[in-house]
Amino acid sequence: MKRPLLIALVALGWVALLGAGALSASIVNSKHDLSAGSLNGGITSSESQVCIFCHTPHSATANTPPLWNRSKGAGPYQMYSNPGSIQGQIAAAPDGGSELCLSCHDGTIALNSVVNESATGTPTLNDARTPSHLTADGKLTGYALIGTDLRNDHPVSITYAYPDDPGLNNPATLSLPLYNNKVQCSSCHSVHDPANTPFLRLNNTGSALCLACHNK
Ligand code: HEC
Ligand code: HEC
Ligand code: HEC
Ligand code: HEC
Repeated sequence: MKRPLLIALVALGWVALLGAGALSASIVNSKHDLSAGSLNGGITSSESQVCIFCHTPHSATANTPPLWNRSKGAGPYQMYSNPGSIQGQIAAAPDGGSELCLSCHDGTIALNSVVNESATGTPTLNDARTPSHLTADGKLTGYALIGTDLRNDHPVSITYAYPDDPGLNNPATLSLPLYNNKVQCSSCHSVHDPANTPFLRLNNTGSALCLACHNK
């Protein structure tokens, strides 16, 4: 291929990429990189793999996509409630993808506890991490702990009650994902992509993320 043509094609590729919206970033070295040597402080000191804390290629937890490598959070959970105002149906306990997040963020399961370990065995917790944000037995604590009491958190595992709640935007034009017509953690967060801190699907300047769903 002639060089000017190649350069033009590469440039066109960039324009297409930029036109597609914000560039995504990698989970590697993000706050979701728990491996030894991660720029997030290395929650573990013996495990060099990144994906293994959440996924495994083999022997994943039964019936739980996507090849999930963790046990479910122990709960029990207390769900958001506002009778008379909330129009959606809230599940009795977190379901769908929210269950996956809470297997670390409810603080009931050690971060280094995975179902299918690598050849190096149970990842050793990094005692030197400061601030550790870990309990002595390796559970999440600190600012990212959501806990099991979800009454003070934005509702999750709730159906998107459009148009019963006239304050919600039409889901047909929504830029955020619903899962079986439900809002889950991943409606607002992108677990692999730290480009918009903290792992947000949209930059929330001017509350753009909130206004994607709420017509306030
Ligand atoms: C902190 C937990 C976590 C880590 C670490 C992680 N993932 Fe995921 N991954 C998830 C969750 C949760 C989902 C389910 C979809 C969602 O909620 O966005 C998912 C879904 C996926 C999917 C299904 C398609 C999709 O994007 O939804 C693929 C493929 C995937 N992950 C690949 C990877 C790879 C490769 C790595 C390592 C480089 C990795 N993941 C690391 C949590 C994680
Ligand atoms: C393997 C355990 C694990 C899973 C599963 C997991 N997280 Fe995290 N998450 C962490 C850790 C560890 C941190 C960093 C905490 C710290 O450094 O104090 C974190 C941090 C975060 C932060 C804060 C990021 C920042 O920039 O400050 C958000 C938001 C978050 N997680 C959302 C999610 C969501 C949403 C899911 C599910 C889709 C999820 N996490 C699944 C372990 C996990
Ligand atoms: C409706 C949107 C939305 C949903 C649903 C949602 N989050 Fe968030 N989350 C946010 C926003 C926005 C922030 C940033 C808050 C800030 O910086 O003021 C945030 C912040 C966080 C943080 C950082 C610590 C903090 O309190 O600021 C964690 C950890 C987190 N979310 C985890 C989760 C988990 C786990 C779920 C599901 C159980 C979830 N989020 C569901 C919008 C959401
Ligand atoms: C993915 C869509 C979505 C996003 C994004 C979203 N919300 Fe919501 N929010 C909902 C749904 C659905 C409900 C439940 C409404 C119902 O059932 O009547 C809700 C409920 C609420 C409630 C509770 C209302 C009540 O009557 O108790 C508040 C407050 C709220 N959201 C604020 C926010 C804020 C602030 C943000 C941005 C940080 C945000 N939401 C982002 C979908 C979303």
